[in-house]
Amino acid sequence: MKDLTPKKSDLDPIEIASVDEIRSLQLERLKWSVRHAYDNVPMYKKRFDDAGVHPDDLKTLSDLAKFPFTYKNDLRDNYPFGLFAVPREEIIRIHASSGTTGKATVVGYTQNDIDVWADTVARSLRASGLRKGDMVHNAYGYGLFTGGLGAHYGIERLGATVVPMSGGQTEKQVGLITDFKPDGIMVTPSYMLNILEGFRKAGIDPRSCSLSVGIFGAEPWTNAMRLEVEAAFDMHAVDIYGLSEIMGPGVANECVETKDGLHVWEDHYYPEIINPATGEVVEDGEEGELVFTTLTKEGMPMIRYRTRDLTTLLPGTARSMRRMAKITGRSDDMIILRGVNVFPTQVEEQVMATGGLSPHFQIELYKAGRMDAMRVFVEVTPEAADNLSKTAAARMLTKHIKDMIGVSTEVVVGDPGDVARSQGKAVRVIDNRDKE
Ligand code: DLL
Repeated sequence: MKDLTPKKSDLDPIEIASVDEIRSLQLERLKWSVRHAYDNVPMYKKRFDDAGVHPDDLKTLSDLAKFPFTYKNDLRDNYPFGLFAVPREEIIRIHASSGTTGKATVVGYTQNDIDVWADTVARSLRASGLRKGDMVHNAYGYGLFTGGLGAHYGIERLGATVVPMSGGQTEKQVGLITDFKPDGIMVTPSYMLNILEGFRKAGIDPRSCSLSVGIFGAEPWTNAMRLEVEAAFDMHAVDIYGLSEIMGPGVANECVETKDGLHVWEDHYYPEIINPATGEVVEDGEEGELVFTTLTKEGMPMIRYRTRDLTTLLPGTARSMRRMAKITGRSDDMIILRGVNVFPTQVEEQVMATGGLSPHFQIELYKAGRMDAMRVFVEVTPEAADNLSKTAAARMLTKHIKDMIGVSTEVVVGDPGDVARSQGKAVRVIDNRDKE
């Protein structure tokens, strides 16, 4: 793999500033953001008043803990534009996510917000090893989802060439990558596996393609998956994190030279980790729920937004800003089986550790009598299809899951192509517990 380490002189000065400098910038911006929300968004004014806190009470960064949380439901309750802090005419972009239940959650950006977003995505791309003049194939979906356009503006801001492919049409993706020879690709990790299959179907060796880095996010994925994709394409795989409520992609990104977790771009997005049950802030290094406060967002400031994502904050390494560990999962995706907590990422690790199985998998939850039960659907790789016993593979994965995660599951091993493929974010869990 190529050495893609960026030059120090190419970084934003704040990326390598001292921690003290970063904290003082954050405090100044946090005071502005909390006041901006209070003065311009009725929901925040009411929430702060009800909780007996005022923007003047924020004297240190830790005072933020006195302020109330914001939840996804607050966006639904204020649908569509009730959380905007500027007149609607100053909003130049809307995004929305449909969600699985209820109304869409809508977010809005001013011109300055779009600029900050493009800057932080460009910074993320640079951390991933890309630079001005490179070409980037963008297979995140375009439209209301923040992935496509968020990545697009960042690629342009870096001064790179964007190929705005969007998701789907796997054969065409393979054709364009082969013909245009991009340096980087931005796509969900699960859809990258489809592109990999596309290469194999077309009889093209993926290791011979031009890509030197893939920037994968929008869904949880594991280090085991990183190694698989890196080996398959002979390229680096780095993690990009973000969420529409806070901005979109590029809230945090890994550095290609260390791949040791995602540096949070803390000059714009202030992270806290809380105990999800009590709401108390926990120390850096402890796992809990990630909470974000925007520091510079004008259109729709977010104060202490509960992401539901579980991770740990760690000190900076390649950059001064803190890192977050790879997301274990969302608290809503946590499966509780006979008292044991299970995340789809843990199942992913075990699938990858079982020889002869491809990385595609899906989990079904169902009722076995009065108990919840889990069934894991996987498939053999085309190479192993002729000589691997499916029964033996199923037995092996069942044992790995029992030994490493501590739950009993049924495993169904299918033929190549049997597990549903994703075009964007993969659906890992099908819940059939109320269908009997
Ligand atoms: O998924 C933004 C994005 C687009 C990020 C492209 C990265 C790349 P939403 O649709 O609002 O926004 O979904 C946000 O996706 O709360 C996490 O649960 C999950 N997520 C995003 N990035 C990662 C990641 C975009 N790198 C939700 N690892 C978040 C794990 C991720 N989960």
